[in-house]
Amino acid sequence: MASQKIQIFDTTLRDGEQVPGCKLNRDEKLVIAKQLELLGVDVIEAGFPVSSPGDFEAVQAIAAQTREATVCGLSRAVENDIRVAAEALKLARYPRIHTGIGTSEMHIRYKLCTTPEDVMARAVAAVKLAKSFVEDVEFYAEDAGRTDNVFLARMCEAAIRAGATVLNIPDTTGYCLPQEYGAKIKYLAENVTGIHNVTLSTHCHNDLGMATANSIAGAINGARQIECTINGVGERAGNTALEEVVMVLRQHPYLQLATGIVTPLLAETSAMVAHLMSMPVQANKAVVGANAFSHSSGIHQDGVIKHRETYEIMNPRDVGMADSSIVLTARSGRAALAYRLQKIGYDFDRQSLNKAYASFLQLADRQKEVVDHDLHALVEQEQLIN
Ligand code: KIV
Ligand code: ZN
Repeated sequence: MASQKIQIFDTTLRDGEQVPGCKLNRDEKLVIAKQLELLGVDVIEAGFPVSSPGDFEAVQAIAAQTREATVCGLSRAVENDIRVAAEALKLARYPRIHTGIGTSEMHIRYKLCTTPEDVMARAVAAVKLAKSFVEDVEFYAEDAGRTDNVFLARMCEAAIRAGATVLNIPDTTGYCLPQEYGAKIKYLAENVTGIHNVTLSTHCHNDLGMATANSIAGAINGARQIECTINGVGERAGNTALEEVVMVLRQHPYLQLATGIVTPLLAETSAMVAHLMSMPVQANKAVVGANAFSHSSGIHQDGVIKHRETYEIMNPRDVGMADSSIVLTARSGRAALAYRLQKIGYDFDRQSLNKAYASFLQLADRQKEVVDHDLHALVEQEQLIN
């Protein structure tokens, strides 16, 4: 059976940019949007046009210059937001308005201070208005993760009847467990009238470190769009990381869910976003972190030198990294030392290697890492070559 397509909806420029200190200007947003198109994302959420004149202009410029991807603008379920989003998206080849409202009891009672019936009416009016401007309307049920499934299903049906083409089910607070979120998507896929004519979308936050797992659970249970950001940037602990969900699906082909992402561009896209947002990527970040393909303990190094797949479940080149690395530390063994020495031109017999290893360990206990330049000095000092 052929794989089913998972649409990748990138919200780096909207939800990702909501992080303090990460604000991007129009030109920076355009540079990232161009890279996202090269990367092969299906939808670029370019911004929240009503939020500021600068964001309006950025969405407008991205809409005008993007030819392949759908360009999306966020709006609350508020008439003016929707009108402004429609205006900003006027030049888009494939425009989408993303509108919605809080649906959990928590949001209805304490944020919106209203009733479920009023929320439903506002959602329907918002989708209808958005539909009068564009064909493609995505409805978000904010805090769907904590929304009662029966009410959520009613909201989804109302949004479909009003013209929504995509239903976004956000775990806004990053609270759900993967099986809970997966079950929610399954429930909607099985119980919402008209669901087969629309796309169900995941939108998961990472407050408990489960955004990627939740998004994958959603896709396994029927979602066909995943909302995510480069490097997982986003409010609080961030959003689902694009590079993670894409590689999970690629490395597990039996799931038969495939994206159109050009994975060798992941590393450079990650570096670009980190640089323009002044938001460094943690070294141990999955897929694109500096240490994602480096091996520093003796046991692992010995395995990788013999056969890289003993400790590597993906090829670094598939995500655009140059290669994996063997880092020499006090936890490294003889095999790693011999490997590194060979790489820099020394091929020692067992006796010389033992001598080099003893003095290597002394050095490695004094510093965090032993680099090639240290090894040359060590070989000279121990008079291992004539
Ligand atoms: O997390 C969320 O609920 C959102 C919506 C505005 C889509 O970002
Ligand atoms: Zn969000």
